[in-house]
Amino acid sequence: MTRSQGATTTTDAPGPPDHRLGFVSTEEEVSVTALPVRGTIPAWLDGALLRNGPAKFEAGGQGFRHWFDGLAMLHRFAFAGGRVAYANRFLDSPDYRAVRERGRIGYSTFATDPCRSIFARVAARFTGGVGLNANVSIGRVADQFVAWTETPLPIAFDPETLRAAGVLDWEDRLDATTTTPHPLTDPASGDTFNNLVRFGGTSRYTLHRIPAGERRRLPLAALPVREPAYMHSFGLTAGHLVLAEYPLTVNPLRMLLRGRPFAENLRWRPERPTRFLIARRDGGGWLPPAEGGAFFCFHHVNAQERDGELLVDLLAYPDPAIIDALYLDRLRRPAAELALPPLPELRRCRVPLDGGAVRYERLARMGLELPRINDRHRGWDYRYVYGVGQREDGQPDFQNQLVKVDLRTGDAAVWHEAGCYPGEPVFVAAPGARAEDDGVLLSVVLDARRGRSFLLVLDAPSLGELARAEAPHRIPLGFHGCYADRLTAGSKV
Ligand SMILES: [Fe+2]
Repeated sequence: MTRSQGATTTTDAPGPPDHRLGFVSTEEEVSVTALPVRGTIPAWLDGALLRNGPAKFEAGGQGFRHWFDGLAMLHRFAFAGGRVAYANRFLDSPDYRAVRERGRIGYSTFATDPCRSIFARVAARFTGGVGLNANVSIGRVADQFVAWTETPLPIAFDPETLRAAGVLDWEDRLDATTTTPHPLTDPASGDTFNNLVRFGGTSRYTLHRIPAGERRRLPLAALPVREPAYMHSFGLTAGHLVLAEYPLTVNPLRMLLRGRPFAENLRWRPERPTRFLIARRDGGGWLPPAEGGAFFCFHHVNAQERDGELLVDLLAYPDPAIIDALYLDRLRRPAAELALPPLPELRRCRVPLDGGAVRYERLARMGLELPRINDRHRGWDYRYVYGVGQREDGQPDFQNQLVKVDLRTGDAAVWHEAGCYPGEPVFVAAPGARAEDDGVLLSVVLDARRGRSFLLVLDAPSLGELARAEAPHRIPLGFHGCYADRLTAGSKV
């Protein structure tokens, strides 16, 4: 094991052998050429799993209040010839530098008391200020890998060294306050799509397309709104983009006046419907509005078109209580006192293309979060959803198993190991795969009993364990990542 320059020793305090270890800061940055492997890594796996998530939750005696606010750390598991190399590094963002150089939190976050509003946070980009802690997901824009958060200014980084290369330089002049950290790429065209939200006296959604290989965002459909909703993701089909606009809204002017962090400005209005806003991908504008009952959701799963309807599959909570449940003081309670809301249901929203009432149906008995699919099925018919779940043994706990839902039956297969807390499972298709689930699942698992993490490789058809590679340390629980094949990752082991 070699420690990268500037690495400090770990601050890992021995903690209780449970989920709470996932919310303890780490300082350690390492680079390891070969992790100990148990089992057999498929020889065809020759790219890299890149992960993002919060890893430091305090600075200079101040603590972040919410899981979503921790400083971003990138992780890289690179595969070659059945071996696994590992490296991790804090994302060298303006926020990270501010904490390092000033020793305190000095910018606006999702839920931690800011010194400036989100307006100032975005305006800060023009003044060289701070407000960019891209700790949510990883994607690609043109030839660059980027870390995303909910401000539309992703941080570019080198997928091999994990060194940051600054805020992505968009080649357009679109102005926005927030975006989703879940841009979606059409598997056929390679074009990527996302939504921008501009806050103001009149706010505006702008669904847009990023042509494959470019850094330009081309608006497809814009919609003025008085009180924009908090939307963390959206849906993509062959012909349409769909926003599920839950009645969890922000009054931008009130937020500007109050100066409180973003999360404290969200208002839940369950008497209002969830609006389904559908835009044509060919630039032909919006379809007639469609509405269903109120719910909240972080993650869309997939969407498709069938018989005059959009089938919009997502993970639906009855209300946004989950946001409050993810404050760190609540997450750091013993399992018996966690009081997490139940996992969201996998819901199909049947949205008529000619507008009107949306019907909901439940697709699986078991709830799940952090959903992934085989991305080759993005926008089309599909059968399998992967995610994290919770063991149904009557014991309160954080998410402690991996789940594979078969949409044809509604049944789920699971992987579980006592004391282990798996992260988002990323599906990687086998070369020449014919079946949708022919491939592996990669998940970074916190083994709380040992105070360490490991990379788990599961056979996707059976959820049987193929191998695990032991990381040299504990990796705090993270959010999202991606698999980069060898050519695009430039990975060497
Ligand atoms: Fe997410």
